[in-house]
Amino acid sequence: MVQKVWYSYDDIHRVVQEIAEKIKQSGIQYEAIIAIGGGGFIPARMLRTFLGEFLGTLSIYAVSTKYYDSDFQGKAGNEIQKIQWLDSTPTDLNSKKVLVVDEVDDSRVTMEFVLTELQKDGFNDLGVAVIHNKRKPKKGKLPENIAYFSGLEIGDWWINYPWDALDIDEHNQNAMK
Ligand code: G4P
Ligand code: MG
Repeated sequence: MVQKVWYSYDDIHRVVQEIAEKIKQSGIQYEAIIAIGGGGFIPARMLRTFLGEFLGTLSIYAVSTKYYDSDFQGKAGNEIQKIQWLDSTPTDLNSKKVLVVDEVDDSRVTMEFVLTELQKDGFNDLGVAVIHNKRKPKKGKLPENIAYFSGLEIGDWWINYPWDALDIDEHNQNAMK
């Protein structure tokens, strides 16, 4: 059975602060954030607070993907597709240093897909930040020349995030154990 772990909002807040510290130490001056929805929305907003201390207030853009069941020549598989992408309005966004944020680096499939698609859109100065990186063999691969920041390296466990909790008190009790 897969091991489970719970993190409270406070746990997440502190780890996000540590990510910001690592980004500060890298010296890379990010100019905008792209959150990968839905898991990346909340950490992206939290991270903006801490990055704001030394980078000013960054705009947050959003992209979202989902998996759909494909059935190709009798072989069912999991394909990933865009459900929301960038408007063409922020035309010079792809010339900026942009930090892509998600909550977890698991199989890395979503991450590879999003980063590769953004590179096709002309982004050439991307970094990625995740709250948790699961130490495991990854199906996806990070494109070259992408700065990578993770808050916490963990095992291949199932993470219960506070934003998924229906009973936050029970969730916090589990997080304290
Ligand atoms: P990766 O590239 O970031 O590794 O993502 P991957 O495609 O492997 O992730 C598939 C989905 O599974 C993602 O949700 C991811 O957030 C979710 N996921 C993976 N591990 C965990 C975990 O330990 N706990 C929780 N709660 N979720 C996990 P998604 O399809 O992007 O949905 P959304 O919830 O972000 O909208
Ligand atoms: Mg996600």
